[in-house]
Amino acid sequence: MPYKIYHFKTLTSTNDKAKELLEKGRRNFAVVAETQTKGRGRFGRKWHSSKEGLWVSIALKPKFSHNLQFLTFIASIAVVKAIRKTAKINAMLKWPNDIYCNGKKLCGILTEGIFGKEDFAAIGIGLNVNQKRFPKEIGNIATSLKIITKKNFNRIFFLKNILDEFEKLHEVYENENFGRIIKEWKKYSDNIGKMAKVAAMQKTHYGKILKVNNDCSLTLKLNNGKIVKIAEGDLFMND
Ligand code: BTN
Repeated sequence: MPYKIYHFKTLTSTNDKAKELLEKGRRNFAVVAETQTKGRGRFGRKWHSSKEGLWVSIALKPKFSHNLQFLTFIASIAVVKAIRKTAKINAMLKWPNDIYCNGKKLCGILTEGIFGKEDFAAIGIGLNVNQKRFPKEIGNIATSLKIITKKNFNRIFFLKNILDEFEKLHEVYENENFGRIIKEWKKYSDNIGKMAKVAAMQKTHYGKILKVNNDCSLTLKLNNGKIVKIAEGDLFMND
């Protein structure tokens, strides 16, 4: 296992700690916390981080800093594989960074870069594992492995599984085999061909998902026939 694991009881955010340790010169490690006081999601959203979940950040020096989305993709493939293998449920990927089951979110991934003389990345994974319930405000959008399977899971066992899968895919990424990453990602997603709404930075688009491109972006055929390529946004499936 090339990733040393640093374990903490409580942190503001594992991504913060990962960045701090990267700045101090540590490389290739994972930071895990029992709880986070300021866990965050994409677009600065609050991430509910009670002690039953797995909150972890993988910290490394990316080979390519221009497209960190590949790191999010390999992390989501690693997590979906670990979930399917360990919990034996049909978890699916939703573009760009979510893992779903039964229409509810099980896991979100937030990759953050540190750009300077050298570039680094913290790949934050939030997996809902043993929660029995969620606060009212996210109760109808979030789920956990426990809610789905009625079983408890050992989070460190899960983490090791995720890191093993991540390591294999990271090698594919370092070998610049991006096509294989996209192909693998598509195996676990049923987004393509579906009608959807995409809330992108500037605009909200409605249409049919045509493909996930080799740079991790999404191509949508709008209801007026126009084709748009979207690099970042929130995807809402119509069904
Ligand atoms: C999202 O779906 O918006 C991404 C959620 C990412 C949450 C994880 S939990 C571990 C790491 N630390 C954070 O503060 N966020 C990520």
